[in-house]
Amino acid sequence: MKIAIIGTGYVGLVTGTCLADSGNDVTCVDIDQAKIERLEHGDIPIFEPGLAELIERNSSAGRLKFTTDTAAAVRPAQLVFIAVGTPMSDNAEDKGAADLKYVWSAVESFAPHLAKDAIVVIKSTVPVGTNTKVYSRLKELTGRTCDVASNPEFLKEGAAINDFQYPDRVVVGVRTKEAEEDLSELYGPFLRTDKPMLVMTPESAELTKYVANALLYTKSAATSTTSAAGLAMTGESAFSFSFPASATAEAAFRRTCGPWPTWPGRSASSRCCWIPSMRSTTGKSAS
Ligand SMILES: NC(=O)c1ccc[n+]([C@@H]2O[C@H](COP(=O)([O-])OP(=O)(O)OC[C@H]3O[C@@H](n4cnc5c(N)ncnc54)[C@H](O)[C@@H]3O)[C@@H](O)[C@H]2O)c1
Repeated sequence: MKIAIIGTGYVGLVTGTCLADSGNDVTCVDIDQAKIERLEHGDIPIFEPGLAELIERNSSAGRLKFTTDTAAAVRPAQLVFIAVGTPMSDNAEDKGAADLKYVWSAVESFAPHLAKDAIVVIKSTVPVGTNTKVYSRLKELTGRTCDVASNPEFLKEGAAINDFQYPDRVVVGVRTKEAEEDLSELYGPFLRTDKPMLVMTPESAELTKYVANALLYTKSAATSTTSAAGLAMTGESAFSFSFPASATAEAAFRRTCGPWPTWPGRSASSRCCWIPSMRSTTGKSAS
């Protein structure tokens, strides 16, 4: 399949590289010219075990390209992934909510170049309801209906390649049978295991990511509290403790809470697992 990835950061680069490695023709796009130039010269801006080798192999084979030219990447693409950042907003009126400015500027930039049957896939972590807003905005910008799916990412920094290639589950939120079929074909090579592709509505997929992050934070908070108590009991200085936790902390957690949290991962990125207050993109409370 021909694929364009809009946003070549942590998630976009890992996603694009792994999809190229499974035989797709992938172009990763970024507005950061310096980053693209580095990638074109084989200089990888992030460290992730196994990533450099995969980039080298797939670039040499012509399956993986990097560009700042959104139009050229999007025109032939059957799937267009949005993988731009969604940082916490600093504005007074919606402080703590997800800031979607990069999502909207990406949508504006690729909309005029979308092929008729292309499917837009939102991989960025976005509040519930964003898929529908992207769908509406694309209709305004293109004058026709464009299919938009949601496909949140659960990778952990430090184990991202393995997480992508051997996922616990793949979550897809779709509006059409065509999107479900395309995403099944895309993820087929990574799901030759007993692990499922969970197909749901776009809203459920968006919510699934926030619930996973909430679970991770709850476990992290419980671990920190419990391990601090464990350290106090064993006479260790609380000041020597830092998270990810020591063996003492892990033992304390196991005694008190049962199995150590290994899903979505104790080393999950702090950038990906923050939980913005559950607001809609209009800034109103979603609950
Ligand atoms: N980092 C993680 O471990 C992780 C895990 C799961 C989900 N996520 C989510 O995935 C999304 C991406 O996260 P990330 O860590 O890869 O972000 P990042 O900040 O590392 O990368 C985003 C990239 O998008 C580029 N960009 C911005 N606007 C653009 C545009 N209009 N066109 C092309 N490129 C553009 C930026 O220059 C940057 O290189 C976020 O929503 C994040 O919450 C991250």
